Amino acid sequence: MPELKLPRIGFGTWKLKPKDCVKSVIKAIEIGYRHIDTAQMYRNEHAVGEAISQETIDRKELIIATKLAIWRLRPGSVLSSTKKSLQRLKLEYVDILYVHWPAPIFYRPKKTLKAMSQLVDEGKVKYIAVSNFTPKLLDEALAVCEKPIVANQVEHHPWLQQREMREYLQQHDMYLIAYSPLARGNVKKIPELKQIAENHKCSEAQVSLAWIMHHGAIPIPKATGEDHIRDNFESLNLQLDEEDINLIDSIKTQKRLVNPPIIRPKW
Ligand SMILES: NC(=O)c1ccc[n+]([C@@H]2O[C@H](COP(=O)([O-])OP(=O)(O)OC[C@H]3O[C@@H](n4cnc5c(N)ncnc54)[C@H](OP(=O)(O)O)[C@@H]3O)[C@@H](O)[C@H]2O)c1
Repeated sequence: MPELKLPRIGFGTWKLKPKDCVKSVIKAIEIGYRHIDTAQMYRNEHAVGEAISQETIDRKELIIATKLAIWRLRPGSVLSSTKKSLQRLKLEYVDILYVHWPAPIFYRPKKTLKAMSQLVDEGKVKYIAVSNFTPKLLDEALAVCEKPIVANQVEHHPWLQQREMREYLQQHDMYLIAYSPLARGNVKKIPELKQIAENHKCSEAQVSLAWIMHHGAIPIPKATGEDHIRDNFESLNLQLDEEDINLIDSIKTQKRLVNPPIIRPKW
C-alpha cells in the first residue's frame, strides 16, 4: 500500500447542503470518522472547512480529500482552483486531490497531472488520486505522472462489484475508494443484504459496508443525521461469515447508479 495510511471507512458529503454539512461533519468527527470526502462540484467545501475549524482535533489526524471540478483540469485552473479550495476549507494543504472525472474535453493526462504534481511540490497537496478512471485511463495516467497516484475512487457496492478494478488496484498498490457504497440508499432493496442483516441483527447498510471493507476497499458513505452516521461507523464491528461474503459475491444484478453523460469514460 502507498505511504498514505487511510482509516478503513470515510465520510462522504455529496448532496449535503452547507448547513447540514457543517452539522453532519462535526458529528461524524465526534463519532470517529477521520477521512472526509468533498469536491469543488459539491459546493460545500466551505461547510467542511467550517466544521473542521470548530473541531479541536489535530490536523494531522484528519484526511481531507477534495476533487477538481471537470472544467478545472487545465493546468492554470488546477493551480488556481486548488488554492481557492484551500481557502474555503481553511486549510494549508489537502491530503488527497482527485481528478473528479476524466472529462475528455478538459482532461489532458500529462498537463493536468503535472500541475497536480506541482501542488505536491508546493506542499498544498499531500497525495494525488483519480476518480472514475478505467484500467486504460489508469495505465495512461501512471505512465506520465511524476508522483504516485494513490487511489481510484469509483462506484462500488453489491450491485457494482468492481472485480477487475479491485484486482488492478491491488496489483498497483493503490487504494480503491468506494463511492455510493450504500447504492445511494438502495441497500434495503437488495434481498441478500436483508437476509444477512436479519441473521446478524444489524442494518443492510452495515452489511454492505462490511462486505466492501472485507474486499479491501474503503467505503465513504454519506449520511445526514446522527443515526445513519453512527450506524455506518459501527459497520467496523460487524464480522461477516464466509457464507455471507459468498452470497453477496454471487449477486448477479449489476447496476451503475452514477453515470453522467458526456463526462463519463467508456466503461
Ligand atoms: N467521485 C465521484 O464521482 C463520486 C460520485 C458519487 C459519490 N461520491 C462520494 O461518495 C459519497 C457516498 O456516495 P453517495 O452519497 O452517492 O451515496 P451512499 O453513501 O451510497 O448513500 C447515501 C444515501 O444513503 C442514505 N443512508 C446513509 N446511511 C444510511 C443507513 N445507515 N441506513 C439507510 N440509509 C442510509 C443517506 O440518507 P441520509 O443522507 O438521509 O442519511 C443517503 O440517501 C458521496 O457523498 C461523495 O462523497 C463520489
